[in-house]
Amino acid sequence: SKTGPAGRPIVLIGPMAVGKSAIGQQLALQLGVPFVDTDAVIVAGHGSIADIFAGRGEHAFREIEARTVAAVVEAADDTVTVISLGGGAVLDSGTQQLISRCTVVYLECDAQTVAGRIARNSGRPLLAGDAMGRWTAMFATRRPVYERLADITLDVRHGSVSELGGRLEAAL
Ligand code: S3P
Repeated sequence: SKTGPAGRPIVLIGPMAVGKSAIGQQLALQLGVPFVDTDAVIVAGHGSIADIFAGRGEHAFREIEARTVAAVVEAADDTVTVISLGGGAVLDSGTQQLISRCTVVYLECDAQTVAGRIARNSGRPLLAGDAMGRWTAMFATRRPVYERLADITLDVRHGSVSELGGRLEAAL
């Protein structure tokens, strides 16, 4: 097991709308450990992501995001805590370094599978307008980063949330 005896945080990464929060919550439930969604921590402290983007811009959001991820990962140090990150969090080099001592799980998906969720997208400013086109373009840029950081890759194109949680637990 990659989680080791003392345990390490399990960090879920991957593009928007692939189910990082849902699968993370499910895995935490199965393991009986805490779950933290860093987007939810940001919203609790700073208001909605749409409002942060609109009022202060993406750059300010990324600064808040990097600080939040660092605080959450450091607080979880040496414990098995499941942490889901926003899709763009891994672009920050400090975040990349920080999660290198965690078990990083990349949720692999494609635009077709998440098309419905992308279309119903709510509160994701980066998907405003041509949501499918924007998701696809961002994924093309970010995919190599997700792949490079991943200790475990979970194909989430098929299966219910509980099935995916089971498959992920087996892969740890
Ligand atoms: C973003 C993903 C979102 C959220 C913000 C920016 C991104 O999180 O952090 O809207 O850059 O991919 P989800 O991946 O949970 O949608």
